[in-house]
Amino acid sequence: MCPVVIYKLIPLEAFKIEAKMISLQSCLEIIDRELETFKSEKKTPSELYEPVYYILSLGGKRIRPALALMACNLFSNDVSEAVKPALAIEVFHNFTLVHDDIMDNAPIRRSKPTVHSKWDNNVAILSGDAMQIMAYRLICESKPAILKSLLDIFNTTALEVCEGQQYDMNFATRNDVTLGEYIRMIELKTSVLLAASLKIGAVCAEAPESEAQKLYEFGRNLGLAFQIQDDYLDVYANRDVFGKATGGDIAENKKTFLLIKSLELATGKHAKTLQDAINNQITDADEKVALVKDVYNLLNIPELAIKSIENYTNKAFKYLDSVVVDNSRKELLHELARDLMKRDR
Ligand code: IPE
Ligand code: IPE
Ligand code: MG
Ligand code: MG
Ligand code: MG
Repeated sequence: MCPVVIYKLIPLEAFKIEAKMISLQSCLEIIDRELETFKSEKKTPSELYEPVYYILSLGGKRIRPALALMACNLFSNDVSEAVKPALAIEVFHNFTLVHDDIMDNAPIRRSKPTVHSKWDNNVAILSGDAMQIMAYRLICESKPAILKSLLDIFNTTALEVCEGQQYDMNFATRNDVTLGEYIRMIELKTSVLLAASLKIGAVCAEAPESEAQKLYEFGRNLGLAFQIQDDYLDVYANRDVFGKATGGDIAENKKTFLLIKSLELATGKHAKTLQDAINNQITDADEKVALVKDVYNLLNIPELAIKSIENYTNKAFKYLDSVVVDNSRKELLHELARDLMKRDR
């Protein structure tokens, strides 16, 4: 009998993989369990490792490892191959936060003192370095068939995050940053890690490159929306819920979506207030934040930010929609992405 006849005899249904989707809650449980095991490896000197376990114990949304597991689950009912890489991404992300908080003079993260405030800068630098190496060690636990691909994505992304962070610092002393430059900066410092999380998840499921790349683009656009939302929350969030000190971006002259847009639109006395603020003419930090926030409100900047967040989120969904798997498998990722844009922390 020829193979074509055999194929015709088997009902099409037999080729459908039955959906076995893992909820966000289950993803978070997997990550928490893995983190517990990771943190139980107590090592010396404690001065190096305590801050590592401290920052990882403070919670956080765990969005990146969740995206990795969910991306893997789009293509495979078995997500076990993505667990260590997901953990690696979360450890790497936490490392970037520890160093970012030194760079941004941030006192509070996840409603607790930042590592450099609780200990000191040297501790934060070295514990951060250790976390980066720990992240690589976790990635290297992956099976040989996918290890090279994972390392390629991880290396490219890690270097891009450094580039983005450098632009972020360069921009703090420049007053002519364009919206295009800003978007590229946030793409590098934030989006690429969300994008890489999704792509890494897809690679762990050995998905076709074309589909992994669509997920990368989904994450890249989602990440842009995510960072604009973070800029917005830095001014408008309830600080108890947000877990970070609000107004920090204004105090540090960060070129956020809000500031760039208002510099573009302000005239007369509003333009003067902004110039005084970014040229450090307003010495009281609380006064500076209050004055700049007033200008944002008068120019309807929050509305523009929300529109931009929606635009990038919708663009992101187009990529998710184009991924060639059954639509029912995409629902949880859709839901997660929608909730992310309504977040208050
Ligand atoms: C904070 O990331 C850094 C940004 C890219 C804005 P998250 O908002 O994901 O922080 P946690 O991990 O939930 O605390
Ligand atoms: C952080 O951007 C991006 C990285 C940590 C790489 P932010 O500086 O805005 O993040 P938060 O607000 O401190 O979390
Ligand atoms: Mg920061
Ligand atoms: Mg920063
Ligand atoms: Mg921020």
